[in-house]
Amino acid sequence: MSLFPKIDPPKRLLLGPGPSPVSPEVREAMSRPVLGHLDPIFLRIMDETMSMLREVFRTGNRLTLPMSGTGSAGMETCLVNLVEPGDEVLIGVCGVFGTRMVDVAERCGARVDTVKADWGSIIDPELFRRALAGKKYKITAVVHAETSTGVLQPLEEISRMVHEQDGLFLVDAVTSLGGAALHLDQWGIDACYSGSQKCLSCPPGLSPVSFNERALEAMRRRRQKVQSWYLDLSMIEKYWGSERLYHHTAPISMNYALHEALRAVVGEGMEACWSRHQEVHREFLREMTSLGIEPHVAEGQRAPMINAIRIPSAADDAEVRRRLYEEFNIEIGAGLGVLKGKIWRVGLMGHGARKESVAALAEALRTILS
Ligand SMILES: Cc1ncc(COP(=O)(O)O)c(C=O)c1O
Repeated sequence: MSLFPKIDPPKRLLLGPGPSPVSPEVREAMSRPVLGHLDPIFLRIMDETMSMLREVFRTGNRLTLPMSGTGSAGMETCLVNLVEPGDEVLIGVCGVFGTRMVDVAERCGARVDTVKADWGSIIDPELFRRALAGKKYKITAVVHAETSTGVLQPLEEISRMVHEQDGLFLVDAVTSLGGAALHLDQWGIDACYSGSQKCLSCPPGLSPVSFNERALEAMRRRRQKVQSWYLDLSMIEKYWGSERLYHHTAPISMNYALHEALRAVVGEGMEACWSRHQEVHREFLREMTSLGIEPHVAEGQRAPMINAIRIPSAADDAEVRRRLYEEFNIEIGAGLGVLKGKIWRVGLMGHGARKESVAALAEALRTILS
């Protein structure tokens, strides 16, 4: 007999900045029997996962695998493997996650310069042009969908400028992967990381990462060992590659979940997934307009899967979110940093990117705000 009752979490409609709703199929996959991390059947599951991740990232990169850990582990993986002390790194900052990249890069010993935009706008590619014209950077990094502001940063022009200078282009696709067009190979993205819990609709816990040959070459040319043993890709690729060398015990059930979640995304097709997110985003904007609620981000800069809307002046931020939880079982996100108390963030991601989610939220807000 335990002193504590069994947990009994309610079935919330997760329309916050992540995690997103997890399908019954993915939850069921997590409850299947745990295998050993070197069991031939688990090894096959790993191979299939890598192959589906390549499809989702739109890449032929051999090194495409899920790191054990959340999106921040993916961020650290890319930076600890690519950065050596003293390296020059340029980072685009217009929200929490660009700011976090700066922190991580500095902890790796990088000399970091930033180009910035207001929270709620994209970073003007011209700022990258000027910065890149003035100095040679080993790595230029940017967040694709800035979850703290709802902005989708265009990548292709920045990528071209970075490559003219022979630098490496690193992209945070934690929130965008699966919810908006992203083509690693076509767009010249050298290293990229994501998270399992956003548009892939898997619980949090894994971070898909992909490195192309240029990024691998930069790793091979390192003068020093990667300072993180756990995130050193040169060892991890020996477990995920043909050598199958034990590195750490893979989180088996999480990998089952990701495999099932990827089956759904790849089964739907990437283009279909991206347009579903776009369509649901448009439906959301229509509903919010009918409620007199305005988007925070200008048209043409909005991330479809994470929607920043301005809190109506008569509404009490915390009280509305509390009532959404308690009366309607719906989660949305509060504003962060300078946007705290000014915006709500509505995630329409993965399994949650459906017109029914929009209708349920609009109905609840209509009741609360009236
Ligand atoms: C754009 C972006 N980058 C990085 C992260 C960090 O991911 P995690 O919270 O899974 O560690 C997040 C999390 O929301 C994110 O939205």
